Amino acid sequence: MNASAELLDVPTRIANFPFPFAKDSYRYSTNVEPAGTPARTAAGEWGKHTIEIDENYHHELAERTRILASDASRYQSLPHMMPAQWDAMISIMRMLAESYPDSMSLERDGTAWIWRNGLLDTEQRFVVGDLGTLPIDPLRFATNQIQEDVVLLDQREGQLWGDAGVVTFAADWSLRFDVGMSFLQIHGPVPRVHAEGIVSRAQSFLMRLEPGERYRRTNWTLTVDGKLDTSTETYPQWGPDRTSLAQGPLEDVGDRLFLRVEVQHLIRLATSGSIMFLIRSYLLPLRDIASVPVWAQRLHAVLDDLPEDMADYKGITKTRGPAMEWLRAHAGVGS
Ligand code: HEM
Repeated sequence: MNASAELLDVPTRIANFPFPFAKDSYRYSTNVEPAGTPARTAAGEWGKHTIEIDENYHHELAERTRILASDASRYQSLPHMMPAQWDAMISIMRMLAESYPDSMSLERDGTAWIWRNGLLDTEQRFVVGDLGTLPIDPLRFATNQIQEDVVLLDQREGQLWGDAGVVTFAADWSLRFDVGMSFLQIHGPVPRVHAEGIVSRAQSFLMRLEPGERYRRTNWTLTVDGKLDTSTETYPQWGPDRTSLAQGPLEDVGDRLFLRVEVQHLIRLATSGSIMFLIRSYLLPLRDIASVPVWAQRLHAVLDDLPEDMADYKGITKTRGPAMEWLRAHAGVGS
């Protein structure tokens, strides 16, 4: 049986999952690679499109709308970021139209543009720079079309600054807290990366990106009950889940605990010169991870090997033990 025939039976949520580990050990690094080419995994592939639309499209957009309605601070933009917002919106629409030509298009009509999104059954005519031609700010409008969170970074004084964003699915951080901070300040809480020069190397790399250049990287953690909104703001709603998982029955772990992987794209916007940071979050329960034996083995090895300070920062000190125990009991790991 060849590889593609083998893949026929794999559900798309597993086949397209960006399993992030290439080795049995995980440490921080400036892990960036050029975007746009599919990355193979043991179950399939991911990364063909910079912006990915999947079967959760309508559900995740509804989640974003609900979260923004209950907490408007998930959208932040310093006043000088409006040109970058327009630039980001056009760039997002172009990528969508290129990747999904059957349902999306962006056309020019004199000084105006016409955006069509057949999946949402919407059409919007607008003039770049004229806020009156959009129902909401450009970055808000753009993030109503995609599952990705977006941060826009201004480049000035030899540094990058996180000066705008729409972030509804943060993994234990807060855009409201971070807005206006430098790239180095934003990464302040992360252990190891400062002493090892990872953050300053990443910033130098990003500052050298040419207009239109796109790179990508992944990041990961463990999340209980598949919640996308694990922002600092809603900690009381999701923080106790870690304890309840650790104290609950082992049988529940396969369905309650998820490997959360972020696919992050880094793109230099051509007109404003800002960097657009797209964060797409994928969640797969351990039960699905267990259906791909090499993933189960590898996740177990990575969790087992992860140093305490990194596990602590990722918020998985309570859940990694149950994760490993469940993988040993139900995924044949270690046998
Ligand atoms: C090559 C580029 C980058 C590298 C190598 C990098 C590296 C990292 C690492 C290693 C972490 C810790 C993650 C974890 O253990 O879960 C982190 C967290 C984070 N990164 Fe980055 N990052 C990059 C780009 C960016 C960009 C462009 C932003 C945009 C604002 C950003 C915002 C953040 C935030 C908000 C956190 C969480 C910090 C907190 O706990 O408050 N990163 N990053």
